[in-house]
Amino acid sequence: MVFAVMMFMAGYRTSASFLAGAIVTLLRHPDTLSAARADPELIPAIVEELLRYTPMATGGAKRLATADTDLNGLEIKAGELVLVSLEAANHDPAAFSHPDTFNPGRDTSGHLGFGHGAHFCPGNRLARMQIHAMVTALADHSPALRLAVPPHDLRWVNGAAFRTPQAIPVTW
Ligand code: HEM
Repeated sequence: MVFAVMMFMAGYRTSASFLAGAIVTLLRHPDTLSAARADPELIPAIVEELLRYTPMATGGAKRLATADTDLNGLEIKAGELVLVSLEAANHDPAAFSHPDTFNPGRDTSGHLGFGHGAHFCPGNRLARMQIHAMVTALADHSPALRLAVPPHDLRWVNGAAFRTPQAIPVTW
């Protein structure tokens, strides 16, 4: 029962927020939607780049250090709380060249969109299917959809754990 509730809680807000953010990313990159429409086989790569590029959490993944650790010169003591920004890692130029460019043609292997290690997202397969369905629907049914406002005028929900647009104004 507890497991079912956790899967629902962890699987609803994450998907709802991520899909909204990913739609904004796609509306800002109409060429990607045209490419997906022309060749649906590109969609899995688009899904992975969306997962790398689109930030989701507004805080960080929380970890409690169980032992004294040296992380590239940064000392972490046992018992200290560590906030890990998966979003920052996904935009690390040492890991991805031109990380702030949305490029579905890139090698996205190693992205942390679903975390890493023991707490790697158990819903990743379902989430990938959801994102794939969203890209397909946008590409097939709404290829002319565009943001109706400049991206920096979008408003985001304040204080939410997951980055969520208040609304996505569109035109076509
Ligand atoms: C686009 C959608 C999703 C994204 C981007 C996402 C991302 C993530 C990330 C980054 C983590 C790791 C957090 C950490 O390391 O602390 C995580 C954990 C988790 N996710 Fe997802 N997730 C998504 C959808 C889902 C769905 C659909 C489910 C369930 C049906 C789900 C269930 C969980 C659970 C239960 C955890 C905790 C795992 C643990 O702590 O061992 N997620 N997710």
